[in-house]
Amino acid sequence: MNTFSSPVGQPLDRVDGPLKVTGQARYAAEFGTPHLLHGSVVSSTIARGRVRSIDSREAEALPGVVLVLTHQNRPPIASYDEPYEDDDAAEGSPFRPLYNDRVLYSGQPLALVVAESLELARHAGSLVRIAYDSEPHQTDLLVARDQAHEAPAETPEPRGDFAGAFAAAPHKIEQEYVTPVEHHNPMEMHASTVHYQPGGDLLIHEKTQGVQNCQRYVEDVFGLKGRIRVLSPFVGGAFGSGLRPQYQLPLAVMAALKLKRSVRVVLTRQQMFTFGYRPRSIQHLSLAANETGQLQAVGHRAIGQTSRFEDFTEHEVEWSGMLYRCDNVSLDYRLAPLDVFTPIDMRAPGATLGVYALECAMDELAHASGIDPLQLRLVNFAERNGNQDKPYSSKELRACYAQGAERFGWARRSMEPRSMREGHELIGWGMATGVWEAMQMPASAKACLEPDGRLVVSSATADIGTGTYTVMTQIAAAAMGVALDKVEFRLGDSSLSQAPLEGGSATVSSVGSAVQQACALLQAKVLDAVQQFPGSPFAGASLDDVTFVDGRLLLKRDPSVHVDLGEVVRSNGTLEAEARVEPGEKRKEWATATHSAVFVEVRVDEALGTIRVARVVSAIAAGRVVNPKTAGNQIVGGVVWGIGMALQEETLIDHRLGRYMNHNLAEYHVPVQTDVPDVEVIFVEEHDSVVNDLGSKGVGEIGIIGVAAAVANAVYHATGRRVRDLPITLDKVL
Ligand code: MOS
Repeated sequence: MNTFSSPVGQPLDRVDGPLKVTGQARYAAEFGTPHLLHGSVVSSTIARGRVRSIDSREAEALPGVVLVLTHQNRPPIASYDEPYEDDDAAEGSPFRPLYNDRVLYSGQPLALVVAESLELARHAGSLVRIAYDSEPHQTDLLVARDQAHEAPAETPEPRGDFAGAFAAAPHKIEQEYVTPVEHHNPMEMHASTVHYQPGGDLLIHEKTQGVQNCQRYVEDVFGLKGRIRVLSPFVGGAFGSGLRPQYQLPLAVMAALKLKRSVRVVLTRQQMFTFGYRPRSIQHLSLAANETGQLQAVGHRAIGQTSRFEDFTEHEVEWSGMLYRCDNVSLDYRLAPLDVFTPIDMRAPGATLGVYALECAMDELAHASGIDPLQLRLVNFAERNGNQDKPYSSKELRACYAQGAERFGWARRSMEPRSMREGHELIGWGMATGVWEAMQMPASAKACLEPDGRLVVSSATADIGTGTYTVMTQIAAAAMGVALDKVEFRLGDSSLSQAPLEGGSATVSSVGSAVQQACALLQAKVLDAVQQFPGSPFAGASLDDVTFVDGRLLLKRDPSVHVDLGEVVRSNGTLEAEARVEPGEKRKEWATATHSAVFVEVRVDEALGTIRVARVVSAIAAGRVVNPKTAGNQIVGGVVWGIGMALQEETLIDHRLGRYMNHNLAEYHVPVQTDVPDVEVIFVEEHDSVVNDLGSKGVGEIGIIGVAAAVANAVYHATGRRVRDLPITLDKVL
């Protein structure tokens, strides 16, 4: 008997951890080259209008300043007059930096100052004088809400008779919820280091969630097919901000092409607020229930903001048509164009907003009808996805409710608001459900056995801190039957096998499946090679007759017959296999989703109104968990962000200027250590044979979904105050 236990399911430490904590992991702005030039972006100070003139003489006169790049002297660009798209592009025409004299939003890059040092470039940037012809702008969604148009998204058709059922029901609520603009604020700033190679090819170190997306973008925009390689081995957080190429990339490329030199452009923290963000939203929820709490009508209308040049859409209202069983549903989603940059996906895009509003509304309905909030969810449990009219491939949400409630002690909650207190603190208990799609996208991976017995597996995916290096190592070790320390996983290089953007919680499902398949194909090649050896004891054996354990190939019926994989390679030469995996056909008949139940305790100082989150329990159903440690980290990170969304995060705009005011981490508040209690994460057992061969659904997004609602519901329970515009700051509860 072998004692080799599967590496999948183990709480393995991050394999890239030592590189990160010793500073050996290098990020996009840390790759240098002798005589590297530094670019600094000069941004617009108006929200709409035209550039009348740019006076860069004073900047250019400084010794060491080599270029001030503007729309007037940028190099010709192959497709700048044609709309081009990246893999995460919204409908419309993507923003083109330095295209012409139009100013489309405040903070738009209008010039790039290139100099021998970053300090010099930034100083010179402050000397560039830009004169504008301003035009009136609108940046306030609340003012422009009536100008919203239908979103170009596939919002599910209405079903049943929403209006009739709503009117007839005994219990109902109808409320509006408003959420602010939020920004991703990853620790690592967006950066591009463009190495100009002899002959004019470009090697680009980029902060991105998709090296091949950036490669294609630069190839298409600049007409450099086959001459671009993009590397991104480490990413210091992205959360969606790296799904699209951001403007520092084309700016750095332009400067490199014009000067035929290597150039780096790093955005400042302030400039991190000058591209995509989570859009402000206005959501209108109408819920009605009968005497026993069964939903009779669900209505969800949402308005989001977008730019004037693209229609950013996300799945915001769909969740209300599927999370609970209801026959009468009406969903509507609109967009209001403003003089702002286009929003971009931000952790659990759409669901974070839509489920927040739905789950607050469910809590309001529970209190309006005198039913325990958890009981209301159970009464309306959906066995099928009502939007698609399909059964779920697996849905252990009941186990999430049961185990989460048990651990939290939910049964001891008293229904009345303001009914639980300790000294001067009001105690509130709130809960919410979370849901996210379990997606899979086509992906490829390559597995290669080396003469020393090491297994090198690769794919052009990313690790944005989520643990991709680690979980792919585990999947490969398990699939190939080799020890974890014999596996090396490579990613973040556009020359590797095709991979989708790292997003949507789909990397394990997509790339993990390809890794597993590549290893399976490699095993067949190993057996084939072994059978070519003269007098091979494996002659005539099929894959069913053998097993791969601990770096060896064994005959099942006689394990004393074995061969070391390294030895096979040393005799045969390097063996490799590449696999491409598409989402399985059987997925089509099923709805696939991850679920969660979140329970929160808040304590509110009655005199001061300060709100403290005291406890969080999050129970997750996400199929098979490859690594409970990295997956648990994802959930905790999501919970922290949900606390921030509920209580702190808000990018404030001065609408007179159309400009963000708190564009820094001093004034854009995020939770810090003392704001976050111990977060208990439970992964409930869930088996799924439909989503993919791993049975794993992905956990990147589900952690944040529902958290803000659970906090808001807890604040209501503590104080009796329903705050429907986030964040819930103390002035709103006093
Ligand atoms: Mo995530 S918002 O799909 O990076």
